[in-house]
Amino acid sequence: MTFTVCLFLLSSLLLLPTYVLAQTNGSIAVGASLSTTGNSSWLSPSGDFAFGFQQLENNDLFLLSIWFAKIPDKTIVWYANGDKPAPDGSVVNLTANSGLVLTSPQGDQLWKSNQTIAGIVAHGVMNDIGNFVLENEQSAKLWEMFKNPANTMLPGQILERGGKLSSRNSETNYTRGHFQLYFQDDGNLVLSGQKPYNATGTTTGSVPGSKGLQLVFNDSAEELAARDYYLRTTLSFDGVLAQYFLPKTSVDSISWVPLWSEPSNICQKINVDSGPSICGYNSICTYKADKRPTCECPTRYSLLDPNDPYGSCNPTFKQGCENEPSYAEDLYDVQVLANTDWLTSSYMQLNDSTADTCSQSCLQYCSCAVAIYSNQTCQKKKFPLSYGREDNNLNATTFIKLTTVYKKNGSTSVHVGSVLLGTFVFVSFMLGTADYLGLFFGFRKKLM
Ligand SMILES: *[C@@H]1O[C@H](CO)[C@@H](O)[C@H](O)[C@H]1NC(C)=O
Ligand SMILES: *[C@@H]1O[C@H](CO)[C@@H](O)[C@H](O)[C@H]1NC(C)=O
Ligand SMILES: *[C@@H]1O[C@H](CO)[C@@H](O)[C@H](O)[C@H]1NC(C)=O
Ligand SMILES: *[C@@H]1O[C@H](CO)[C@@H](O)[C@H](O)[C@H]1NC(C)=O
Ligand SMILES: *[C@@H]1O[C@H](CO)[C@@H](O)[C@H](O)[C@H]1NC(C)=O
Ligand SMILES: *[C@@H]1O[C@H](CO)[C@@H](O)[C@H](O)[C@H]1NC(C)=O
Ligand SMILES: *[C@@H]1O[C@H](CO)[C@@H](O)[C@H](O)[C@H]1NC(C)=O
Ligand SMILES: *[C@@H]1O[C@H](CO)[C@@H](O)[C@H](O)[C@H]1NC(C)=O
Ligand SMILES: *[C@@H]1O[C@H](CO)[C@@H](O)[C@H](O)[C@H]1NC(C)=O
Ligand SMILES: *[C@@H]1O[C@H](CO)[C@@H](O)[C@H](O)[C@H]1NC(C)=O
Ligand SMILES: *[C@@H]1O[C@H](CO)[C@@H](O)[C@H](O)[C@H]1NC(C)=O
Repeated sequence: MTFTVCLFLLSSLLLLPTYVLAQTNGSIAVGASLSTTGNSSWLSPSGDFAFGFQQLENNDLFLLSIWFAKIPDKTIVWYANGDKPAPDGSVVNLTANSGLVLTSPQGDQLWKSNQTIAGIVAHGVMNDIGNFVLENEQSAKLWEMFKNPANTMLPGQILERGGKLSSRNSETNYTRGHFQLYFQDDGNLVLSGQKPYNATGTTTGSVPGSKGLQLVFNDSAEELAARDYYLRTTLSFDGVLAQYFLPKTSVDSISWVPLWSEPSNICQKINVDSGPSICGYNSICTYKADKRPTCECPTRYSLLDPNDPYGSCNPTFKQGCENEPSYAEDLYDVQVLANTDWLTSSYMQLNDSTADTCSQSCLQYCSCAVAIYSNQTCQKKKFPLSYGREDNNLNATTFIKLTTVYKKNGSTSVHVGSVLLGTFVFVSFMLGTADYLGLFFGFRKKLM
């Protein structure tokens, strides 16, 4: 019995009302080539899709790719050489014997199409559904992009058993990343990091008579008219598989809108077993309305690499047990958050706790970075904190310990908080790195 997983049902692709007469029939002759320096591409007849080189952000490397050509941001739907970006001067040739061949200026072969059917290529076709096809003289398909997907599926595209989508490494790095949508040989469709985090369970036995045969991005039902919308289903670098649409008439002003996404909250789904933490150390993953995770540093923490919003956060204050003379309560503040937790680094559990004793207990021990209070239990955690997430099911109160002694760019800024005349007064000043605590206490005496 055939079982088809329908990603989404759409009405059939019709011609655009704003159809512009084709300048090309999409056919590319053997012997044709494109170069990174040429700024040219092979367009589909409607002009919706283009095949060629796209330059990577912030460097001189190029991806051989297919993209939505009428959209200003030229969203890439397929890329050949994510693991080996092409230096400027690289060329792709359409050859009769080897299909598409991507060669660097030094003559290194960076990528070539791997024909599934042996034969001599007569021509290539960039068609209007976004597929690039190599055909022989009889128009039999020898190779096609649709059967060699990267991280995206388009309407009409079919993933056979054994096929997969692979995430890229980051928003701007197309090296193969941590996540996969794998259509296993047993018919199960599995989303996985190091381990699966969601599966359809469509194997023989689990759902009687319904072993998965094909994953079809079905374009023939009616929820959204495909003629009015661009559509794509993409496995993002953060492990979210989502379908997006974009009205064709307003491509200038609107960005891709998610229709559905899986899993519904990736921040909660990914744990130590299933894959690498979405956010770096000390960071907190929050699932946002755009159905994508964002990573945020706690108060008084900042990004280790300001250009990597998914990276680790470092405290801007003195942390840990170094140089701590003794417990001095007014060296500390506590930030209280709701339902925030890090899955790792728990080093002590207090039973029969109250929220107050939980918070106090973290303050009193230098090794404690955060304490999570829930159901009369207090989990004390130390650095580094990983797998941070906001999860409304936790019913937890989260105490993040913040010391009031700051690090600041090689010198130390001491932030003194003191109750004076009923007003909370802050005095800040900058010191050299050494023995700031002595100065701190000296200063405090004068203030009191
Ligand atoms: C497409 O156009 C080229 C010339 O640009 C022509 O040689 C080729 O026969 C055409 N193919 C089809 C299928 O019309
Ligand atoms: C490449 O093409 C784009 C759009 O067609 C144009 O805006 C850009 O100036 C061109 N760049 C070069 C180097 O020719
Ligand atoms: C690829 O195309 C370029 C430019 O047309 C040409 O100089 C080169 O010889 C071709 N290489 C192959 C292997 O066909
Ligand atoms: C080419 O295809 C064969 C058979 O489908 C496969 O075993 C091989 O790994 C593929 N090579 C590449 C580079 O994709
Ligand atoms: C992409 O990330 C990989 C793995 O972290 C790294 O080796 C590679 O240099 C990066 N590529 C670019 C173009 O930054
Ligand atoms: C996978 O996702 C579906 C749909 O959201 C959900 O019903 C199912 O419980 C998930 N399965 C696993 C193993 O997480
Ligand atoms: C796509 O969906 C339509 C309507 O549900 C169905 O009739 C058709 O068989 C589906 N196509 C494929 C390839 O499964
Ligand atoms: C707290 O309870 C857990 C299990 O409920 C137990 O393993 C642990 O030893 C207890 N901790 C203390 C300090 O009693
Ligand atoms: C709270 O803790 C008690 C005892 O440790 C346990 O029996 C109970 O199931 C927990 N309740 C929740 C909501 O986790
Ligand atoms: C959440 O915690 C509060 C306070 O500890 C408790 O009164 C409430 O029953 C808890 N709710 C659930 C759903 O566990
Ligand atoms: C730290 O100081 C150096 C030079 O003293 C300066 O170049 C750098 O921008 C500063 N960094 C920050 C985060 O203020």
